[in-house]
Amino acid sequence: MKDHVEEIKHKLSVVDVVGGYVKLERAGKNMRARCPFHNEKTPSFYVSPERGSFVCFGCGAKGDMFTFVERIEGVDFFGALKTLAERAGVELTPTRGDKDKNERSREFEILEDATIFFENELKKNELAQAYVASRGIAPSTVQIMRMGYAPAEWRSLRTYLKARGWSDGEMEKTGLIKRTDKQTSDPFYDVFRDRVVFPIADASGRVVAFSGRIVVDDPKAPKYLNSPETDLYRKSRILYGLDKAKQRIREMDYAILVEGQMDLVMSHQAGLRNTVASSGTALSDEEIRDGEYTGLGLITRLTKNIIIAFDSDAAGTKAALRAAKIAMSLGMDVKVAFARGGKDPAEIIQTEPKAWAQILKEAQPVVEFATERLLEKKLAHKDLHRGIRDEVLPLVATNESALDRSRMLNVVSTMTGVKVSDLEQDIMNITEDRGHVTPSNRIIGMPVENMSREERLERMLFGILYGQNKLNMNGENDIQEVLGAGRLLHYNSLPDIDKSMLATHVETLYGEDGPQLKDKIDMVLNLTLERTKRKRDEIGREMRTAIGSPRGDALLKEFESLSKEMSDITNKLSSRQ
Ligand code: UTP
Ligand code: MN
Repeated sequence: MKDHVEEIKHKLSVVDVVGGYVKLERAGKNMRARCPFHNEKTPSFYVSPERGSFVCFGCGAKGDMFTFVERIEGVDFFGALKTLAERAGVELTPTRGDKDKNERSREFEILEDATIFFENELKKNELAQAYVASRGIAPSTVQIMRMGYAPAEWRSLRTYLKARGWSDGEMEKTGLIKRTDKQTSDPFYDVFRDRVVFPIADASGRVVAFSGRIVVDDPKAPKYLNSPETDLYRKSRILYGLDKAKQRIREMDYAILVEGQMDLVMSHQAGLRNTVASSGTALSDEEIRDGEYTGLGLITRLTKNIIIAFDSDAAGTKAALRAAKIAMSLGMDVKVAFARGGKDPAEIIQTEPKAWAQILKEAQPVVEFATERLLEKKLAHKDLHRGIRDEVLPLVATNESALDRSRMLNVVSTMTGVKVSDLEQDIMNITEDRGHVTPSNRIIGMPVENMSREERLERMLFGILYGQNKLNMNGENDIQEVLGAGRLLHYNSLPDIDKSMLATHVETLYGEDGPQLKDKIDMVLNLTLERTKRKRDEIGREMRTAIGSPRGDALLKEFESLSKEMSDITNKLSSRQ
């Protein structure tokens, strides 16, 4: 992969890539423009053809052509790699063999086929159309959102896909059909039946899953049914509508986050195309711990500003504060829009679209919002103070800037009458508990900088093992050997969430296919080197007290042999470059 990156950088110039998005003018050796990542009147965005990089002295954005495409397109590193490889005419040879890559592109294909099937079925079914119309959704919106309908039959999609040559295995793997446990001649049936279907796409617009809304409410069936998690659909990493919203989010420099599919569809229909939806499931604990890489993290590449507009009931308020906390910990500026009367955005937009625009305009900074919700409860002073400590101050504490924190405390104090000095005392306790650990500099709770290189390599190797089921070094699963049985056990006993975080970490560095064999071998060699060094240093320390004795001689021998091992590994490493 490193080779691909180099090849692309060699074939394309950073000036051409950036120039495709912004108007550049010459400024000495460099090129200059108004920064596409923040609003400015005078240009402070520079591109250096010599170094192949860009930097904005206004907002601090910087990087190479890959970083640039990631940010401007709102895609991850792999998205950028794909885009630039296409432009450069570089063919990406997949690391895990063509078979897997083909499998993946076939998965996208079958999901695309299913989308078309559902779209056509909606065109045929008047009842489903009537339902969609009753929700205020226009035919043009149906088309843009690619909404569809899954017929009220057990196997209509399966029959269709089968006729087009897809196998049951492929349909099952992509979450389109399920297998029943019952003994029947045909155990497979469609997952989506008699539901209006919303295709869920990844950031580049490829359908990865579906969500189906029941047409006739039925207390026995879930209102929304979603595709199961699959290879392509990791719920915590997808935001519904992001593919359609990303451009607008960047242009407007803020995003609106709603809860539901209907809220999203109606928002886009009303022209608020910078709206994305969390779809109920997207904001998990995993996101709090690992936010950078997941749903909300995708937005931070496009803008730092977000308005959270959830349902105005108790559950919606709670979810909004949760999302707000994640967003703040990612360094975002968070406001909350609050529609009184328990209505959700879709209903308000359908009945009075002007009111929704006004509600968004009146969105409050999240700390104010949380404080006001508390004040509404009309608590006694002591309970109010406790409420502030538990619900408001943790939000304040996520803010990295001391100046912002103190500004917020002043607001809370003015609103509630609790003394600033008391609030400061409370918030100290919170920040002390938490340390200054942000998601970006930490792997499983511990700041990366406090971790030894050995530990970091171990974690990386375990992340590869966990994410890809095996290390796949020369075809062998030799992780046990590499980490050592005891260490492997130690990592295996981590909670799943920590394991998956390690795997995610590897993915963000190396992409879904993980590092190439060469990189993996380098890691193993480096790990061995670190361990040998640690052992040698220990012996070195022991030697100091044993000089001259027979034990000292034995230690010296060992010291020398470990040193030799180290230089062997170092040689191996440098001859491999
Ligand atoms: P809501 O219950 O608020 O639904 O759930 P809604 O968005 O108002 O739906 P409509 O307007 O009645 O059609 C909020 C979100 O939670 C998820 C969906 O993403 C939904 O939009 N959800 C809800 C599910 O995934 N499954 C369910 O059974 C219910
Ligand atoms: Mn709702």
